[in-house]
Amino acid sequence: MDNILKLKEQADEWSDTMFLYESALKQMTMKAEMLNDEFLHRYRDNPIEHIKSRLKTAESIVRKLKNDGYEVTIENMKNHLSDIAGVRIICSYTSDIYTIADMLGRQEDVTVLYVKDYIRRPKPNGYKSYHMVVSVPVYLSDGRRDVRVEVQIRSVAMDFWASLEHKIAYKFEGDAPEALLKDLKACADMVDMLDNKMYSLNKAILAIAEERKQERGESTSGR
Ligand code: GTP
Ligand code: MG
Repeated sequence: MDNILKLKEQADEWSDTMFLYESALKQMTMKAEMLNDEFLHRYRDNPIEHIKSRLKTAESIVRKLKNDGYEVTIENMKNHLSDIAGVRIICSYTSDIYTIADMLGRQEDVTVLYVKDYIRRPKPNGYKSYHMVVSVPVYLSDGRRDVRVEVQIRSVAMDFWASLEHKIAYKFEGDAPEALLKDLKACADMVDMLDNKMYSLNKAILAIAEERKQERGESTSGR
């Protein structure tokens, strides 16, 4: 009986903890959605293509703790894992990635714990994405908890590349043929090229649209 009570206690602690991460995830997702809505409202422009969010599964929490050499406990998972709650924000243009990151980071209730900028410094395999681990407060009936969320911000092209790389890494478990990895790296360079080209094309489109507006004597958008 004692054993069952203990199990019940642990199950409760697990579900209380995951509830906190889920609440923090909702908040960060909402913050990103709000920024996008504001841009749409103000400039008729959406910097965010889409937002995905996920809670890490129990299986992958256990796998990661073991891989990192920690005993599998709720305490260790809270202290050592930063990506139990994860939001992925997909932007159209690289410049929007930094705008969104900056705006989220400057919000009063968001504390940026650390940043990994794999756009300025891509990983050797070609991986590019902007990572920010933040802490947000979750207010419960008995007080405030600060909860960590991993925010990944990347372009559509970077996201496309990352899903293919993930698939290859998963399928070959670190033993992918050299030629495949080389092709993948070449694709990462193409992602760069595409992102740069799309950015300058978009800039040119906006400039022309603005010019025509001014010619018609309409007010300008300001972005
Ligand atoms: P883990 O990689 O999760 O153990 O954490 P870390 O402390 O090394 O953080 P990092 O910022 O490097 O990676 C966090 C997350 O970014 C990963 O869980 C993946 O979702 C993603 N990521 C990092 N590197 C790669 C990569 O090379 N390929 C792909 N597809 N995703 C990556
Ligand atoms: Mg990693």
